[in-house]
Amino acid sequence: MRSTKRQAAVLLATLMGALACGPSDGAARPAERLSAQAGAPGIGDADFPLDGNGGYDVSHYALKLGYTPAGRRLDGVATIQATAKQSLTRFNLDLKGFKVSEVSVDGAAATFSRAGHELTVAPAAPLRQGSAFTVKVAYAGVPQPVVDSSNLGRYGFIPTPDGAFVACEPNGARTWFPGNDHPADKATFDFEITVPKGVTALANGELTGKPRTSGGKTTFTWREAHPMTTYLATATVGKFRLRQGTTPGGIRNLAAVDPKFAGSLDKLYKLSAEITDHWGTVFGRYPFSSTGGVVDDFSAGYALENQTKPLYGGFEPGADIIAHELAHQWFGNSLSIKRWKDLWLNEGFATYAEWLWAEHKGTGTADASFKSFYERPANDSIWAYPPGRARPDDLFNESVYSRGAMTLHALRGAIGDETFFELLKTWTSEHQYGSVTTEQFVALAERMSGKQLDALFDAWLFQPKRPTL
Ligand code: TRP
Ligand code: ZN
Repeated sequence: MRSTKRQAAVLLATLMGALACGPSDGAARPAERLSAQAGAPGIGDADFPLDGNGGYDVSHYALKLGYTPAGRRLDGVATIQATAKQSLTRFNLDLKGFKVSEVSVDGAAATFSRAGHELTVAPAAPLRQGSAFTVKVAYAGVPQPVVDSSNLGRYGFIPTPDGAFVACEPNGARTWFPGNDHPADKATFDFEITVPKGVTALANGELTGKPRTSGGKTTFTWREAHPMTTYLATATVGKFRLRQGTTPGGIRNLAAVDPKFAGSLDKLYKLSAEITDHWGTVFGRYPFSSTGGVVDDFSAGYALENQTKPLYGGFEPGADIIAHELAHQWFGNSLSIKRWKDLWLNEGFATYAEWLWAEHKGTGTADASFKSFYERPANDSIWAYPPGRARPDDLFNESVYSRGAMTLHALRGAIGDETFFELLKTWTSEHQYGSVTTEQFVALAERMSGKQLDALFDAWLFQPKRPTL
């Protein structure tokens, strides 16, 4: 209802604009035409105005990378397939640091310039709206991770003694490849990563062939054939112990651990299998072609849900955090957010999955988890921070996780178990591999329950105080 009205208003404004200007005076509006032809430097997320870019949509990244841990040097050639959403005289890619040696568009040399993390590319001839094009960027240098002032510390491509720990949420993909670095533009990925013999390069998806060794170097080729956001891409490099196989439910499974964590390999392998299979029964069939996990010796103290290969930083993961990162394969990875303020759709759901895992194992109930948070005093910071509007300066606030999960528990109480679990499955199937917003989730919950849920969602997601029960 509301969105239909908005569409009508937009249509009306467009019609009025057309009538006022008059379509016949072709010489008019040169300024407007020019601005319409340069791709915007941001994708349109008001909280992160320069993240991602406008004017085109990426469908595929082919990343050819060479990395030498000793010199921390990364050499890359990124071949990016995209479609112009408007006519383009130039467009931007996000890339932080590096020396760019060459850029071409459809095989013809393009001019380019750098300003901060914006790499602006001007093709030899403008691109027509709707046309498919290929950009190739050659670059090299020492990756510079992002240093976050709030609670993430460093993220992006982080060198380690034996390789690199690569975890990029929210906008660290630009620290190792040029792209449209915002979750609203998803694409498939091919990786060809060459590293010194004896170390392993682990990227998303599956190996497309046997690793090839020659001249003291080994090349690994990986493919993620399902759409992926840039922040979920990884090329984690190091010495690893591997265990490979298939889950009882039939999904390929790969666990990899730094030798320092050799004792946790089998546990990681088995828990990843069990949890992936279990979530398949609760959230709907597993959306990707393989599952697993990677434990590296970089003591991040956190984990990231890298697509098909969650990455655990410097600790032996237990079932809770594995349940969390694997739940993200549905919530965050298959279904991705269109804008960062909706982050609770990722973190609230993954946290709720931890509560569901305890419920499944009989070690606790979601209700007990809910209550332990609800008991927090009225002046606790989770009540001051409305989780439905994640703030750019404090994106990963605890409220987005725990009050986000409480929102789902309150919803479950209001609509009943049967509708709630049907809703989770419908949500993941209707938007599989797509992009979502909070409004869409609220609308689906109302549609499936037949209930008016505005007040519930408003109190839990948008008010800076503890909701009443
Ligand atoms: N999404 C992660 C989680 O669910 C948290 C996270 C955000 C993170 N950015 C990161 C972890 C960067 C590692 C690196 O727990
Ligand atoms: Zn999470």
